[in-house]
Amino acid sequence: MLTNFLNHKAGLCVIIIMALFISFESFSQTKYKAFHPGELWLDDHGDHINAHGGGLLYHKGTYYWFGENKGKDSNNAFVGIMCYSSKDLYNWKREAVALPVSTDPDSEITAGSIMERPKVIYNKKTKKFVMWFHLELKGQGYAAARTGVAVSDKPTGPYQYKKSYRPNAGQWPENFEEEWKDRPVTTEADWWTEPWRNEVKEGLFVRRDFDKGQMSRDMTLFVDDNGKAYHIHSAEENLTLHISELSDDYLSFTGRYITLAPAGHNEAPAIFKQGEMYYLITSGCTGWDPNAARSFKSSSIWGPWEYLGNPAQGEHADLTFYSQSTYILPVQGKKNAFIYMGDRWRPKDPIDGRYIWLPVLMENGKPVIKWFDEWDLSIFEKEMH
Ligand code: GAL
Repeated sequence: MLTNFLNHKAGLCVIIIMALFISFESFSQTKYKAFHPGELWLDDHGDHINAHGGGLLYHKGTYYWFGENKGKDSNNAFVGIMCYSSKDLYNWKREAVALPVSTDPDSEITAGSIMERPKVIYNKKTKKFVMWFHLELKGQGYAAARTGVAVSDKPTGPYQYKKSYRPNAGQWPENFEEEWKDRPVTTEADWWTEPWRNEVKEGLFVRRDFDKGQMSRDMTLFVDDNGKAYHIHSAEENLTLHISELSDDYLSFTGRYITLAPAGHNEAPAIFKQGEMYYLITSGCTGWDPNAARSFKSSSIWGPWEYLGNPAQGEHADLTFYSQSTYILPVQGKKNAFIYMGDRWRPKDPIDGRYIWLPVLMENGKPVIKWFDEWDLSIFEKEMH
């Protein structure tokens, strides 16, 4: 009787343990079935995803998320650029440090430098994965304003660091007036005054940086349907965006570029193309603090770009729901389905920065972003485009 009871009990225990194990396994594999903007977002190890200022790449059935690894006390790079992967966009597996910082104090990407907003694109001709990111040299604050490039045979890395520089040295933007080229490189006007702003619009900083190359801070990449790739970045003391064409191997600049919204003070560029129309979402310049997003459209990457206003709507739209754009993801296999990816920065505890992913919905030819506490990809079936 007693042995029977014990056997029965042991059997029950085994069944309970197995059931717990199975449910834990399936829980850890398909934990999320929706996006929860602003909440902790755990990877397959149970850690908050550490890929800030990120960008996504879709390659052969898998999404790869690249972003800044942040620590608790500093926004500087002490680990490097992270790579996560996912099949469904909700559940992410930590893959690797795709581009580690260097232990060599003489390296441009030495630990303690600033490596921000990494983006990776795939080059079909060379079969290489190419990463560009905003690089600031160690100990120089944000003065260097360079873009860095690294390359890999596999999406997850390791990426081999190539070089960093200020692009387009010795080149005028395509939309630069002939008469602006010979004007002085300095001005008597005080910063932030109307005369000064007009001088910026008429190329003051493009002239100043003509020989050494244009500044490149917040940036993104875009590959067009014809395979041409573009590097879009905040230049001219963050006052003007530049859109620059990359070479066929995506490893350098061709020298062809335009200025966008001169003196408009745009950062955090994120771009997408719907049909034949290009849309750009940006932020204003208030450092880690959120501000109202902006949006633009153009039927050509080379402009003219038309200003469309703040795409965010509803409560806290004036602060873009406490976020700053970093990337816009075209969802694979769905028509006209785009996700706004933004960062809710936590400069005092950077690792705790949150991800604000929201659907980009089109209303009257304009991108619109509304808040959802929870949403999933089925929203793109319900929405009329
Ligand atoms: C933000 C920028 C971030 C980071 C920060 C530093 O405006 O978007 O990527 O550079 O400034 O203050």
